[in-house]
Amino acid sequence: MSTFSPDAQTSTVTPPVRADDQMPLHGIDHVELWVGNAKQAAYFFTRAYGFTEVAYAGLETGVRDRVSHVLQQGRVRLVLSGALQSDHPIAAHQHKHGDGVKVIALGVPDVDHAYKVALERGAKGLAEPYELTDERGTVRLADIATYGETVHRFVDRSKFTGEFLPGYQRIEHSDEVKTGGMLVAIDHIVGNVELGAMQQWVEYYEQVFGMTEMIHFSDEAISTEYSALMSKVVTSGDGRVKFPINEPAEGKRKSQIDEYLDFYEGAGAQHIALATRDIVDTVTKLQEHGVQFLTVPDTYYDEVPDRVPEMKEDLADLRRLGILVDHDDEGYLLQIFTKPLGDRPTIFFEIIERHGARGFGEGNFKALFEAIEREQDKRGNL
Ligand code: FE2
Repeated sequence: MSTFSPDAQTSTVTPPVRADDQMPLHGIDHVELWVGNAKQAAYFFTRAYGFTEVAYAGLETGVRDRVSHVLQQGRVRLVLSGALQSDHPIAAHQHKHGDGVKVIALGVPDVDHAYKVALERGAKGLAEPYELTDERGTVRLADIATYGETVHRFVDRSKFTGEFLPGYQRIEHSDEVKTGGMLVAIDHIVGNVELGAMQQWVEYYEQVFGMTEMIHFSDEAISTEYSALMSKVVTSGDGRVKFPINEPAEGKRKSQIDEYLDFYEGAGAQHIALATRDIVDTVTKLQEHGVQFLTVPDTYYDEVPDRVPEMKEDLADLRRLGILVDHDDEGYLLQIFTKPLGDRPTIFFEIIERHGARGFGEGNFKALFEAIEREQDKRGNL
């Protein structure tokens, strides 16, 4: 159960040290995006973001109806899937939502147990436990529903020695192709849900996964002249899995969450935050590769030395690259947000480097949302 004070505009709740032992999670196993052109998306994510394609399934491997490219960098595993026929569920999903996250897969020690417990606690089952096997071993899987048409997939790969799943063909690379080394892990994945639905989804994560509410932000805390949103963050007991959930709030104009919901045509994953150990080097390379980021006014940097005196990075680097800085009682963090990954103003990436801070950059929300609103305004959606 949540223990936050409903009166506080922003509150931090210290989660219990022990994970809910009925639903232990190893972490985010992979994220699968359903896209309109998986081959070109794979080219973009490998060349621009430094991922390496490690496995593939498609016509060449005996799969007749879809293709999937599996990309890896550090502990981040992304799967890009596209349909080969118009009547495939990926085609329908892409038609409605555009490119987006379909599966947020969670590593668990026992898929059958996780699925059984999830259903007992009110989750909607989508695929009962099943397994895939090839000469490299067996992976056991099961699916439950979350917000929108998004799926949580339980994965136990402890009896498998391959890169991804049985049936996928390994892709060999010479060392020079493995250029990545910029992004090390998924820090958090944010969901956007409809007005009034945030609390229901927070309770879903509390009840089904035994997660706890870590922070909440009211619409007063997250508002600009034009728009507002509300956000709550749920986390697993060991902090390995963090899911902020946003909903729009009434503003003078359309909030960025409304814009997302309009163009995604429903609830879905808003951004994937990718952790790096050297954000200055990473963002320098990403910009060289053509990745576009949101920018803040230069005056943002005037107050940074006073706001975050412990920062070790060179302020000139952050100013040049547009990296944002925030801090809390435990340290500071550096973050930057990309422009949308695809045609629709929906999913994007955050790049984040933490130095102790456990927050989500709330000190940057105003500057950030004003940056988003400048982009919304260009799109005629403010
Ligand atoms: Fe974030």
